[in-house]
Amino acid sequence: MDPPEAEPVLIPDAVPTLRFLTCGSVDDGKSTLIGRLLHDGELVLDDQMAALARDSARHGTDGAKLDFALLVDGLAAEREQGITIDVAWRYFGTRRRRFIVADTPGHEQYTRNMATGASNADLAVVLVDVRGGVLTQTRRHSCIAALFGIRHVVLAVNKMDLVGFDAARFAAVEAAYRAAVATLGFASITAVPLAARHGDNVVARSARMPWYRGPTLLELLEAIDVARPELDRPFRMPVQWVNRPHQDFRGYAGTIAAGAVRPGDALRVAASGRAGTVARIVTHDGDRDRAVAGEAVTLVLAEALDASRGDVLAAAAHPVTLASRLVADVLWLGEERMVPGRSLVIKLGTGTVPASVSEIRYRLDIDSFGTEPAESLGANDLARIGIALAMPLAVESFAESIDLGGFILIDRMSHATIGVGMVVSAQAAATDLTWHRMSVDQPARARAKGQRPMAVWFTGLSGSGKSTIADLAERCLHAAGRHTFTLDGDNVRHGLNRDLGFTEADRSENIRRAAEAARLMVEAGLIVLVSFISPFRADRAAARGLFAPGEFIEVFVDTPIAECRRRDPKGLYRRADAGLIRNFTGIDAPYEAPEAPELRLRTTTGSAEAMAEEVVAALRRLGVFG
Ligand code: ADX
Repeated sequence: MDPPEAEPVLIPDAVPTLRFLTCGSVDDGKSTLIGRLLHDGELVLDDQMAALARDSARHGTDGAKLDFALLVDGLAAEREQGITIDVAWRYFGTRRRRFIVADTPGHEQYTRNMATGASNADLAVVLVDVRGGVLTQTRRHSCIAALFGIRHVVLAVNKMDLVGFDAARFAAVEAAYRAAVATLGFASITAVPLAARHGDNVVARSARMPWYRGPTLLELLEAIDVARPELDRPFRMPVQWVNRPHQDFRGYAGTIAAGAVRPGDALRVAASGRAGTVARIVTHDGDRDRAVAGEAVTLVLAEALDASRGDVLAAAAHPVTLASRLVADVLWLGEERMVPGRSLVIKLGTGTVPASVSEIRYRLDIDSFGTEPAESLGANDLARIGIALAMPLAVESFAESIDLGGFILIDRMSHATIGVGMVVSAQAAATDLTWHRMSVDQPARARAKGQRPMAVWFTGLSGSGKSTIADLAERCLHAAGRHTFTLDGDNVRHGLNRDLGFTEADRSENIRRAAEAARLMVEAGLIVLVSFISPFRADRAAARGLFAPGEFIEVFVDTPIAECRRRDPKGLYRRADAGLIRNFTGIDAPYEAPEAPELRLRTTTGSAEAMAEEVVAALRRLGVFG
């Protein structure tokens, strides 16, 4: 694209920003159109944006193609996931508006890129060649745009010069498009006839289409009202992190997703349902007496409430739904087909939890926008599905909130984004249930036992020595008068979890139940040794999430698979190698080693007794002996 030739113009700080996206087939003239806009409109690249471009360059990407994760705050999480998507964000502006354009390349990854662009845009410029009219591609892109919450469309009917600037041809394309997308629920569709190559109606009104009396493309982009009504909604803030620089300060940091907040407002923590009052609103420019949607703040509450990352603080009078089941529209991006039962990780708001697909209700037919039954989904399929969450999340429908209703789906193993979606409806985790506070509480039980309750989570391959070490450690604790219990995978699978096998989904549920059982025991004041392969990081993270800080430690029983195979205490490796056991961890099922366990036992360097002593010593350091 040509750089703008105009003298630099300063864009006033206060001008509003419009994020838009261009879509259309490769030949429809997307780049020409954007080039024209910049050229003819004397539009300037924003200085601030140029700085970001330099940043991107430093981060190793081409400055012109900005690393979107540096710029698009909402998707910064994707950066953590190590995903880069080939979307070129371009920044420019006029005295009336700043523009951020997602220019999504038209190759095979198009849909994926477009979805990324769309999830952050206010408006889509749908480009069609007047000669070709509305194509399947046009429908698909419009459908994705709608699915990602874009409410406004500008239909750019291009190459009017090639049909002799014929008003009837333009009208026919516009009518066909309106009919094709009638069910998608756009708030506005505005059609403009263009000859982008020659600049007609891009910035300057075309003298060759006197029959057209509407605004030019730039006029439209400058004027269109795309205000999102987030400000008028009840207060919601997903907790990004808990700021605890010292004992006397605990603040919940995050970006306000909806509504406004003032000191004295009553808020409720979604996960626990506990209510508190806002004491202070802290920002980097000092305390505030009001903050609104879009602002990043740290809230200090008058009461000590336990909220953590992933939780949502909401207006007490308008609590947010804590859901364990979702119905959602998704765009599947995975290479592997998606089948019901597939387990994955969902990232919604600031929360990340294991989940599984419970059903495929229907697939959407792009040509007719009709629905059809489907047993599985392939890449780029759009569908309505059911999702079961391993732990409840605070959600709203996408229609109510983009922040708490939009999500991405992540593969448990590769950590790749395999889907993007929108919540259609959410089912409350436990309707009509409240938490009953017992008068004999955990501290009372712990005091009676003279110990600090704790879960000690052993993870490692089958045959790594988890159960042996846990058993020896428990013996030692027991001999010292501690109150303990051991939850062992093999044993728990005989009772509580006897309905579960070894698929990813079953293992995930196995760990969820084990963690809940361990939590009850910790509530009861016990030191619980939990010994499960627990091969998935996300499941172990979810288990940890059930406990208060300091109540859970992860012990990685690190034994190389060759050694486990040599020991083969139950003869299982032999049978798995012979093909008699399927999905065996380390052979045809994965094991994700812990990245930062509290304790790592390299069992090839010492005896099981020595390892157990290490565990006991670690517990002593942590004060479990009261
Ligand atoms: S986990 O993966 O879901 O955490 P868990 O610890 O409960 O596994 O159970 C593992 C035990 O089940 C192993 O020690 C082994 O005795 C037995 N087992 C049977 N089939 C398998 C399998 N396919 N993979 C791993 N362990 C298996």
